[in-house]
Amino acid sequence: MKFGVYAYTGSMSNLNTAQARLARARRVAVLTGAGISQPSGIPTFRDAAGLWKDFDLEEYATPSAYARNPKKVWEWYAWRYQNVMQAQPNRAHVLLAVLEQRVGEGFFLATQNVDSLHSRAGSIRLVELHGNIARGRCERCGERFPLPDPTQFVPPPYCPGCGARGRPDVVWFGELLPPGAYEQAERAFTQAEVALVVGTSAEVEPAASLGRLASLNGAYLIEINPNPTPLSSWADCSLRMGAVEGMEALMGGSD
Ligand code: APR
Repeated sequence: MKFGVYAYTGSMSNLNTAQARLARARRVAVLTGAGISQPSGIPTFRDAAGLWKDFDLEEYATPSAYARNPKKVWEWYAWRYQNVMQAQPNRAHVLLAVLEQRVGEGFFLATQNVDSLHSRAGSIRLVELHGNIARGRCERCGERFPLPDPTQFVPPPYCPGCGARGRPDVVWFGELLPPGAYEQAERAFTQAEVALVVGTSAEVEPAASLGRLASLNGAYLIEINPNPTPLSSWADCSLRMGAVEGMEALMGGSD
């Protein structure tokens, strides 16, 4: 196991190395979690003010919760959908889009977030491992479709193809990821020269394993998170700071 640096302060050489490795890498894999959207005003899940403190995930984010009470689950997702659509991408989302432009083909971004903020910031080589809160998915034919504008949306939505009820197009606990999504991420993290993990507690599999996978395959691993996580001891450089400050520290004045 590699030894990480638990605080960025006092270890400029680590930050310098991380900047240099990132600047010259031709294959970069990035994983993001709820922490990157926290500065945009979207709550995380497991922090002190996280959603799972106020809401029991067993009542909102499992297939059985939806089977028991689809109305309650849909109302919760409609509320979150509205909040998410009012939020704007922050500087960390933007800097990842800038990094993608610089690296080109060899860039890959896997997010656990369902908030669309990466694509709204301009990221293209992007996989949404846990789906997207702005879409519904037909319970009968499986078609995915955009939800109506959040200001007009009254759940549940109905499939534009077959008319059956749609469910939120997100991945609930105990469900499989969208077909091919993890495989794409796995390939990118296996081949990465630099892996960057931003704002995730690294507690939910299979995404949690991606950083470790990259490290085991020789990547230089950078973590940005104000708090330590199970991934921290694997990181070559741990930036104990928020996503915006961490991305700015890594990329300097890039635009
Ligand atoms: N910048 C960077 N990181 C932050 C910030 C910030 N401003 N604020 C909080 N964090 C960190 C926290 O320290 C924590 O480690 O973000 C992490 C958020 O962790 P979680 O709430 O567990 O979110 P995430 O890792 O994305 O959760 C994974 O679990 O509930 C499910 O499906 C949901 O996609 C989600 C998955």
